Amino acid sequence: MLELTVNLDERSYPIYIGQSALQDTGRLIHHIGDCRPIIITNETIAPLYLQQLLDSLAQLNPLHFIIPDGEQYKSLTWFEKISAFLLENNCGRDTCLIALGGGVIGDLTGFVAACYQRGVPFIQIPTTLLSQVDSSVGGKTAVNHPLGKNMIGAFYQPQAVFIDTRSLHTLPTREFAAGMAEVIKYGLIYDTQLFSYLEQHINELKQLDEACLQHIIFRCCEIKALIVAEDEKEQGLRALLNLGHTFAHAIEAQMGYGVWLHGEAVATGMVLAAKLAYTRQDLTQEDVERITTLIAQYSLPIEIPSDMTGEHFLLHMRKDKKNKKGTIRFILPTEFGQCALVDDVSDDQVRALIEQ
Ligand code: NAD
Ligand code: GLY
Repeated sequence: MLELTVNLDERSYPIYIGQSALQDTGRLIHHIGDCRPIIITNETIAPLYLQQLLDSLAQLNPLHFIIPDGEQYKSLTWFEKISAFLLENNCGRDTCLIALGGGVIGDLTGFVAACYQRGVPFIQIPTTLLSQVDSSVGGKTAVNHPLGKNMIGAFYQPQAVFIDTRSLHTLPTREFAAGMAEVIKYGLIYDTQLFSYLEQHINELKQLDEACLQHIIFRCCEIKALIVAEDEKEQGLRALLNLGHTFAHAIEAQMGYGVWLHGEAVATGMVLAAKLAYTRQDLTQEDVERITTLIAQYSLPIEIPSDMTGEHFLLHMRKDKKNKKGTIRFILPTEFGQCALVDDVSDDQVRALIEQ
């Protein structure tokens, strides 16, 4: 089992990565401590992994709550339903919520944990690649509001993250590819060696080679842990994790949430960010081609939806959480393997980029 730590003083926590994290009874029980475990999962993941986890925790008499599968259940309605379940079962502050699932389950469970009786501990057991390399680490928890995604939430760190790489074997291929977009993102913002590794191990990764999976998941978590330790509440450095996301959120909102997976939209968003960086002479044409090629090789989209115009992008980007005083801010490559937050991209430059 690989292990690393997110260093946040008294709120520091470990991330365990391996083939049997779900059955690591000793470590799970250690992090649950004296609490009563309540597992939150969904109807797709429950038949696959719930029983294993219940067996691992049998001596602690765990309860579980199963929600329907989908982004639309990351809502205040389901926040309320989980809270009611906890109250009905007389759960006190000595409750430990366990998020068993992808980013939807992790974000929702984390937000309930942040609020229930003013905060109870929680553990992340992410089962998608995206949640293993990104959403389970760093303490961003949230639910969606009809007027905006992730608009109601809290920074609230888990007690531990257990990443079981075997869970990726049941993940649909399209979801795996979407997670790879976030992996490529780490290469572009922080680590050219990781980027090269992804270029060199395409087939192994697509075939879920265990050593390759553990290597990339460990490195992504390591980078995320470094960034979160430096800037937990996203005052600066952490914003770099949003490379491609300004464009991506516009695509997701315009197409209707769920039509494009988040990672797919991030993939195209990174291509757009690279092209914009080229027009600013921060990347070369070869850099842009290298980035676009790798993204396509992982079966991710590199073209924007055919009916989306510059105006569509600008409309959605004006609502971006990173904006300041009405100015749209982008994360753009400043050179290959490095990025920065920029606020001097004009609307005309965005229109020209999209029309190109
Ligand atoms: P998801 O949670 O919807 O999971 C994707 C699909 O895969 C679902 O149908 C799910 O039931 C299924 N699934 C999960 N694990 C499986 C497995 N092992 N085998 C088979 N099927 C499985 O999507 P996601 O991509 O994991 O997460 C997206 C969510 O994460 C969004 O709500 C997004 O806003 C959020 N997010 C949060 C952060 C953060 O920092 N908190 C970062 C990125 C994304
Ligand atoms: N996924 C972006 C962040 O955690 O900051």
